[in-house]
Amino acid sequence: MDFTNKNVLITGASTGIGLATAKAFINAGANVWISSRSASKLQDAAAAINDRKLKTIVSDTSSLEGISVVEQAIAASGNKLDVLFLNAGIATFTPIAQTTEADFDAQFNTNVKGHYFTLQKLLPHLADGASVVFTSSTVATASNLGTSVYSATKGALNKIAQIAANELAERKIRVNILSPGPVLTPGLEGAVPVEAKGVLAAATAMQRLGDPSEIASTVLFLASEAASFITGTEIVADGGYLNYAMK
Ligand SMILES: NC(=O)c1ccc[n+]([C@@H]2O[C@H](COP(=O)([O-])OP(=O)(O)OC[C@H]3O[C@@H](n4cnc5c(N)ncnc54)[C@H](OP(=O)(O)O)[C@@H]3O)[C@@H](O)[C@H]2O)c1
Repeated sequence: MDFTNKNVLITGASTGIGLATAKAFINAGANVWISSRSASKLQDAAAAINDRKLKTIVSDTSSLEGISVVEQAIAASGNKLDVLFLNAGIATFTPIAQTTEADFDAQFNTNVKGHYFTLQKLLPHLADGASVVFTSSTVATASNLGTSVYSATKGALNKIAQIAANELAERKIRVNILSPGPVLTPGLEGAVPVEAKGVLAAATAMQRLGDPSEIASTVLFLASEAASFITGTEIVADGGYLNYAMK
């Protein structure tokens, strides 16, 4: 797919799915801005990609202050965005009985509020005809023990994305949801014990975890002209995880 001279912003892209997607867009010719909270992780990401078409933005997009840093960087570039990939996310898995207010607020602020207001603040910077992709999760559909807050954030995100698709259609902006199943990333490794990786792999029809590059290629598809009649919907890339759970 060719994204030459297209402008792409990816939030939460210093590692994992976001970083793999940044690499894929760079390889397809795009100018790419990536954001995350950690300057050192962003430096490592920039070194790994090693391409002048990549720019980094240090920003915590769980707060309005952090979002304004992203907005100012895009405004200062003088470019309109062709692709906005709202991907930053955190997960803490605890039973309801043990969930703290801090866990609840951190996940809702990062996974829901941050994306809502990033979209809002960047609306003037989106090109007409742009594509917006939200990273959700299969957990928005599944009801796994210990995932109440994280799953609720992704469910909320899906509804925001669906309504955004309707509101932005008049500008020919398409908005879609990408729901990965279990994908081997630093985020997954930090959120579950080592032994859970095998359990998650065994819970997919394909009997393996996904690779971040497999999610990246789905984002590029959704952002491309090949998906020109797709908006307001969810694409699941999960190795058959949801379907297999129903067997
Ligand atoms: N891996 C999976 O199995 C899986 C499955 C379904 C959905 N997802 C979703 O996929 C997305 C990416 O996750 P991942 O697995 O690739 O994990 P990851 O490697 O931990 O990546 C998460 C990224 O988000 C950034 N981030 C976290 N909080 C942020 C904040 N407040 N502001 C800005 N950036 C922030 C992190 O960088 P900093 O720490 O530097 O901020 C990092 O770059 C998330 O939305 C996650 O919920 C993952």
